[in-house]
Amino acid sequence: MVSVAIDGPAGAGKSTLARRLAAEMGYIYVDTGAMFRTIGLYALRKGVDPKDNAAVNTLLPEIGLRVDCIDGEQHIYLNGEDVSTAIRTEEAGMAASAVGANPEVRAFLLELQRGMTKTQNVLMDGRDIGTVVLPDATVKIFLTAAPEARARRRWLEYQQKGMEVAFEDVLTDVKQRDYQDTHRAAAPLKQAEDAVLLDTSDLNFEQSLAAMKKIIAEKV
Ligand code: C5P
Repeated sequence: MVSVAIDGPAGAGKSTLARRLAAEMGYIYVDTGAMFRTIGLYALRKGVDPKDNAAVNTLLPEIGLRVDCIDGEQHIYLNGEDVSTAIRTEEAGMAASAVGANPEVRAFLLELQRGMTKTQNVLMDGRDIGTVVLPDATVKIFLTAAPEARARRRWLEYQQKGMEVAFEDVLTDVKQRDYQDTHRAAAPLKQAEDAVLLDTSDLNFEQSLAAMKKIIAEKV
């Protein structure tokens, strides 16, 4: 089975690019951020501080996570409820970043993530796919861009969805999430030694897509 690991900071374009590549290649797209967001969302709903590891850990046995692919789109279910849309808020993103620093949460999700690569070709995106989840991935790409470029893309996405968010707030969140994701002890965001670095700050979507295809074609 072929696995393509795509890591990088928030807003680098990982999910949009990976989704399109997966569709073109006939691979399954696995968005691991959605899993962390779902756990973050559950904590918020339960009134638990996502940063409180001990409290979040007591919730884990109550959480049933299922990931399904419908018409090429990943759907994520929290105890049977499709939360694919509910997890796409700044609040859930920040909660995801907080629970992502919790080693028990990471262990809880690891088997689910690895299991998905056993029987199907996958493109998996996240923060530690090339370093921890799939150290033997066929291809590893570290996708990044300047914070301002990433915040602008996120902000445009929100605009398109009709969500009113100030650009400055998105930029602050991007920087805070970068800091949290790179400075945590458990599986911090970092480029795997054997990953290819791709900076998309000055590339548009089609150019980024072409660059990724070139990197993948060299290994697959
Ligand atoms: O990719 P996305 O923005 O949806 O991820 C939300 C948060 O989940 C990230 O900021 C990161 O802290 C956490 N995450 C993680 N490991 C992954 C994927 C996401 O820690 N593999």
